[in-house]
Amino acid sequence: MIPPFSQPETAVLLPVRQPFIARARTACYVAAMRVTVTGATGTLGFACVHAAIRAGHQVRAFVRRRAEFQRRCRDERVEAVEGDILDRTSAGAALENSDAVIHCIEFPPHRFSLNWDALRHALEGLGSRRQFIYPGNSWVYKPSDGERIGADNPKNAPTALGEVRADLERAVTAEGGTVVHLPDVYGPGVLKGFLQAMFVRAMAGQTVWFPGDLDRPHEFLYIEDAARALVAPLGKRQSYSVDYTAAGPEPITPRTFAELIFKAAGLSPRIRSTPMRWLRAKALLSPHRRALRDLLYLYERPVFFDARRLRSDLGWSPEVGYADGVRRTVRWLREAGYTAASA
Ligand SMILES: NC(=O)c1ccc[n+]([C@@H]2O[C@H](COP(=O)([O-])OP(=O)(O)OC[C@H]3O[C@@H](n4cnc5c(N)ncnc54)[C@H](OP(=O)(O)O)[C@@H]3O)[C@@H](O)[C@H]2O)c1
Repeated sequence: MIPPFSQPETAVLLPVRQPFIARARTACYVAAMRVTVTGATGTLGFACVHAAIRAGHQVRAFVRRRAEFQRRCRDERVEAVEGDILDRTSAGAALENSDAVIHCIEFPPHRFSLNWDALRHALEGLGSRRQFIYPGNSWVYKPSDGERIGADNPKNAPTALGEVRADLERAVTAEGGTVVHLPDVYGPGVLKGFLQAMFVRAMAGQTVWFPGDLDRPHEFLYIEDAARALVAPLGKRQSYSVDYTAAGPEPITPRTFAELIFKAAGLSPRIRSTPMRWLRAKALLSPHRRALRDLLYLYERPVFFDARRLRSDLGWSPEVGYADGVRRTVRWLREAGYTAASA
């Protein structure tokens, strides 16, 4: 039995922090909403739970393991509901009474087609005239070698996985939903991925490896900024059926990013490049890696996003620079007791 959301205090209007120019163009207040975050034990889902609470919304977390979620999130304002998105009934029950969903469930590349079932169950469960927000990544856009890619760029994914992803996103916007494309994220609470591994190795004084050219610029985004970008469309009609792209503070090379981590950890930098041909060969070893092999091009031709529309429509821009974000992440990982063995 899914406990109902408590009735929201009607017409509670929440001030939205926005830069001056955006404030002049967009509505400054949104009503508190009942928001369900799916995949709330995951990287973006967990951060979105907190960002939505901070923005004043009532939040329900849809998770597979409630105890695991509650071990990490002790905020009693969050209602945790257990279920499996592949089970239409449990998904429908979890989304009942929600005004909006931020859908952060992801199936890994070798089981990617299950994202269709997950998306269908989430859309059906939410019903019409409710708001659906979906995080997107860079796979759906062809790298434009230095040019920033904005929401108006055509989705011309260079890989089969990217094409499926683009179709999922089209299904979302066709139903009135919003897609927010994000660069790779790092920060407190991020428990997996190549950026998290860089932190853990550097903090243990080990050599940090990054694929390809260490001096080729990339773009990363602090987790709280990413979660704010996913929460920003809530209650904003102008975001219906729209794709947005969120950018990092600026391009940064892997070498500089790694040096910031070593500096924050008080250690001398040790950074090496992983040869791309070695990565391509290693990718044949497991079904998961094989499925990701096609995406290795992103290390050689990274995508840079243009956040102008997100800023002008919804008042979002990144707030945490790399040096600050890296310092906060190192502090959090230390306090949380992460070691090289967890990388
Ligand atoms: N992470 C990034 O840097 C990044 C950047 C741009 C875009 N994105 C996009 O953001 C979305 C979320 O990515 P993420 O990195 O946050 O993913 P993630 O950390 O892998 O989290 C995936 C979530 O899905 C849940 N899940 C998996 N199967 C489920 C099922 N059958 N029923 C219910 N929940 C299930 C997982 O629960 P368990 O904990 O129980 O496994 C987990 O909470 C994806 O669409 C991704 O492409 C991510």
